[in-house]
Amino acid sequence: MASLSTPPATAGVSPSPRPSLLAYKKAAGLTPSPWCGWRRAAVATAATSSNRTAAPAETIVTGNDVPLLSFAEVAERLDEFHASGTRNQNYMAMYSSIFGGITTNPSAMVIPIDDHMVHRGHGVFDTAAIMNGHLYELEQHLDRFLKSASMAKITLPFDRSTIRSILIQTVSASKCTQGSLRYWLSVGPGDFQLSSAGCANSALYAIVIESPSLPVPAGCKVITSSIPIKSQQFAVMKSVNYLPNALTKVEGEENGGFTGIWLDDEGFVAEGSNMNVGFVTQSKELLMPRFDKILSGCTAKRVLTLAKQLVADGRLSGISSRNVSVQEGKAADEMMLIGSGILVKPVVQWDDQIIGSGKEGPIAQMLFNLILEDMRSGPPSVRIPDMWTTDEADQSMSHS
Ligand SMILES: Cc1ncc(COP(=O)(O)O)c(C=O)c1O
Repeated sequence: MASLSTPPATAGVSPSPRPSLLAYKKAAGLTPSPWCGWRRAAVATAATSSNRTAAPAETIVTGNDVPLLSFAEVAERLDEFHASGTRNQNYMAMYSSIFGGITTNPSAMVIPIDDHMVHRGHGVFDTAAIMNGHLYELEQHLDRFLKSASMAKITLPFDRSTIRSILIQTVSASKCTQGSLRYWLSVGPGDFQLSSAGCANSALYAIVIESPSLPVPAGCKVITSSIPIKSQQFAVMKSVNYLPNALTKVEGEENGGFTGIWLDDEGFVAEGSNMNVGFVTQSKELLMPRFDKILSGCTAKRVLTLAKQLVADGRLSGISSRNVSVQEGKAADEMMLIGSGILVKPVVQWDDQIIGSGKEGPIAQMLFNLILEDMRSGPPSVRIPDMWTTDEADQSMSHS
């Protein structure tokens, strides 16, 4: 029988000098095995018990032989977990008001488990793209972020200008020039109750994720979602309660599509899982559903502004935001998804209906180009420089 031996040196984890847990395991009849043994066994179990791809051999998965770890050992294992390549994204910097600073070590990018955002979903979030070292539409996203926090009854841990400054400093520390910034306001850690009365302070977290590749405006298929849409009160705020959104995306993918499209309580077109929807009607009008029952998309609103150029040069007959029936949407010349992650993505099929010619439409392509250009060289109202490292920042700060 294998014994509870010292972990091998190559594992990079020092032995855990806590016999009481081992004694407990023996008393509980758990079969001891070498440290590496349980890990491999657990990986094998994980690989056979799910249809997902098997975890890499070095992934740390708990088994029957659970060690009691010191803080230093936890840190080492978090390093090992990160080095295992389980994450497929590059996390370049994180700010947390819990430790009151920025870290560039992905292993340290953690949040407390008793944070009510984790176990109750009592938190809100937002994003902003980073393009050529500039934050795109930060002010617009911040407005929505603070509005969401107010709707979720989360008291701000800092005033708006401090939050803004923290976000910009986090991007600066990351040295990321292309990617995205994600940030959360939580009612805070404290206990595991439902009420936030036990949370001493709200918390702010932010993370910078590098993504060197740009979205491609390739045509996609969407399906009408069978997942109930959130009620108006929750749809207009960007809370962390994204289970309906996630299930809508999964349902779309399971049906060979890119995502699902929600209809509102009156049967009008609402929005996609994490993106807005736009159409080009047969009379060449750019048409979007009103934002009163859905998330007010920063990208969609910017597209509505930029599209005025296409009206001016005669490519569009007009721009309108009103109720859109499914019948009208499916009969459109063009349909597109709009959001900060995808920018403008043409839809060529909705359920069984081919949209327009069945190919990516010219207006969607033009709107994609306009928004990309705006990200690269738009006005200061939509492009915040990385204040702490660029000359441009010195200029903008001396003017403010
Ligand atoms: C439900 C929902 N609608 C629309 C959007 C698009 O918003 P934005 O353009 O600000 O990314 C998002 C983006 O996260 C979303 O989650």
